[in-house]
Amino acid sequence: MIPDTELIGHFNEKLKFWYIKNHRKLLWRQTTDPYKIWLSEIILQQTRVAQGTPYYEKFLLNYPTVFDLAKADERDVLRLWQGLGYYSRARNMHYTARQVVNEYGGRFPETAAGLSKLKGLGNYTAAAIASFSFGEAVAAIDGNVYRVMSRIFGIQADMLSNQGKKEFALMAAQLVPFDDPATYNQAMIEFGALQCVPVSPACNICPFTDICFAFAHNMQNKLPVKVKKLKVKQRFFNYIVLESSGQLAMKERPSKDIWQGLYDFYMIESTSPTDDPDELQSMDFPARLLQNGILKITSRVYTHLLTHQRLHVKFWWLEISETNTIDLPAELTFYTKEEVESLPKPILIDTFLKEEKYL
Ligand code: ADE
Repeated sequence: MIPDTELIGHFNEKLKFWYIKNHRKLLWRQTTDPYKIWLSEIILQQTRVAQGTPYYEKFLLNYPTVFDLAKADERDVLRLWQGLGYYSRARNMHYTARQVVNEYGGRFPETAAGLSKLKGLGNYTAAAIASFSFGEAVAAIDGNVYRVMSRIFGIQADMLSNQGKKEFALMAAQLVPFDDPATYNQAMIEFGALQCVPVSPACNICPFTDICFAFAHNMQNKLPVKVKKLKVKQRFFNYIVLESSGQLAMKERPSKDIWQGLYDFYMIESTSPTDDPDELQSMDFPARLLQNGILKITSRVYTHLLTHQRLHVKFWWLEISETNTIDLPAELTFYTKEEVESLPKPILIDTFLKEEKYL
């Protein structure tokens, strides 16, 4: 259903009024600097406003402009990102900062089409920056916006299917006004984030009950429709934390797997959970280390959910003498406590080290 011009006008008026009264004065709403808006949008893809705001501030303090980020060391960028997850986004951002500096003289393209040529910028982020920074009348459709549109205008197509996405995009393009598209996009996101929330939306104080399809049909819990189910792979990580003279052996994560560029310990992946140190031996772990070392900690199993994987992680902390540090895999290096602290690590490892009072 494409609403008529009158209905669109009515919807936009009310939305704007609602936004003026209810929106949060978030830091990235006080600027039109595309670099800052880009940063905020990437962070907000990972996390909620409350958790994301300190990261936003920390990043801008360390890298106030795209030139500063472009000059940065990747390790430092990942270290600042630590805890947000999806580290490929931080790496892409760093890469893209260099692209913007080297290929565009530090100026972001000013249209969604131009912006979406940059690495890591999908349709949503490109439209958000184009409208917030440059006033382009393009709709930024994030999860909030899908929900609001599906409920109010009764779009029942699967928002994860290509056909569904087209239908939503068509509707969104009709709704976005030429007059102040930035406020319109912020308002749609904010309305979804604060009022038309996934569970128990605040319909009792909603300005759209006169036109809302979901409200009329009592379908708030059924919309939006998302059909695809993600298959989650179970993985079992056994980390051997090798300690020698107070230093810990760590290595950079290889490419082509999760946590690329972050640092972790010697790891043996198994196909099922393991409790017995002898089983580790049979999984390629140097027997002499287990025989000569002191097993100080056998941790609990930490579980960590990624988009397509559930990790079950156990740590075995083994103190070894310096004579036993020879012949270890070449990629391992022993780091002091201060170095361990400053290396970029998966948050899970950080949590473990803190729980064990090492950090
Ligand atoms: N989530 C994604 N983008 C956002 C924005 N600009 N403001 C608030 N929440 C958001």
